[in-house]
Amino acid sequence: MKALVLSGGTGTRLRPFSYSMPKQLIPIANKPVLEHVLENIRDIGVTDIGIIVGDREPEIAAVLGDGEELGLRLTYLRQDAPRGLAHCVQIAKDFLGDDDFVMYLGDNMLPDGITGAAERFREVGPAAQVVVQRVEDPRAFGVAEVGAEGVVERLVEKPQQPKSDLALIGVYFFTAAIHEATDAIEPSARGELEITDAVQWLVSSGADVRAQEYTGYWKDTGKVDDVLECNRELLDHLVRDVEGQVDDESVLIGPVVVAPGARIVRSFIEGPAIIGPDSLVEDSRIGPHTSIGAQVSLVGTHIDYSIALDGASVSGVHAVHGSVIGRSAAVSSGDNSTRKHRLVVGDHTRIEVAA
Ligand code: G1P
Repeated sequence: MKALVLSGGTGTRLRPFSYSMPKQLIPIANKPVLEHVLENIRDIGVTDIGIIVGDREPEIAAVLGDGEELGLRLTYLRQDAPRGLAHCVQIAKDFLGDDDFVMYLGDNMLPDGITGAAERFREVGPAAQVVVQRVEDPRAFGVAEVGAEGVVERLVEKPQQPKSDLALIGVYFFTAAIHEATDAIEPSARGELEITDAVQWLVSSGADVRAQEYTGYWKDTGKVDDVLECNRELLDHLVRDVEGQVDDESVLIGPVVVAPGARIVRSFIEGPAIIGPDSLVEDSRIGPHTSIGAQVSLVGTHIDYSIALDGASVSGVHAVHGSVIGRSAAVSSGDNSTRKHRLVVGDHTRIEVAA
């Protein structure tokens, strides 16, 4: 079996971060979303992985390389424009050959893994299997109508009046039968070749298509609030590991990770929280549910339920909450005597200040 990971999307909902980095590289618990995805695929014994990339290929390749460090073999496949998930299968045709494959959207987090779904696919041997989860409002998703034994009776992409609450959550298992389907369908109203339509084409032509329910935690990390929530979920499983330096005047409570080279000085850290390599935390109060990247500097700062990316610095700011601070961004309290905020704010940045 092979895998096809889709990582070409532009991530407009994750602006401004997606201007400077592909959304699939946003760190959750200090590891890029895409790396979490690749580990889930490795866990089902698949190592030969094609990654569909767009203009951001160089940045993705700079982080993942040829996959050797992760024990994987990665092949980058370029998509010229976002033409739909079924179009991704079309351009991967030579790479996939006649093999079965798992297709995985590169911004979807399923921390409970896909081993159950993979076993079911191998056991039952349908032409295709979609992974679904019950959601409150299915209108934003592909929706599956499912009969006995998980047999899919109908699939509809983003229906106005959904007939089921089973949403497609971005993981699909396919046999080579999907190639005929992706060639047979027409672009949808949004101008894309929808994978949902291709799978529906299989259903209509009488193929055995199954749905496997995933009941674990799932998050499409398309928006900042979802990134923070997913970070909280992953940190809730954190195991304490202190390798960096912690001075005698600092207190660490609960599951706290202090990476090698990090320094904690006169600070209080309430887990779960991660402090990345070579970061400095001084006279500060951190956590819970906070991920601090590498080479970050936090001085005289209170921060919780937040993510600070590599190279960021925050100094003298007392109530940072629900925040994502971009790579090498600097936040500071400035001159207190004027009691004025001084902001140099880039495009699509969102800042909420206390009144
Ligand atoms: C895509 C699929 C949709 C699926 C969703 C999962 O939607 O078209 O069927 O439910 O991913 O995240 P998109 O994110 O392209 O709108």
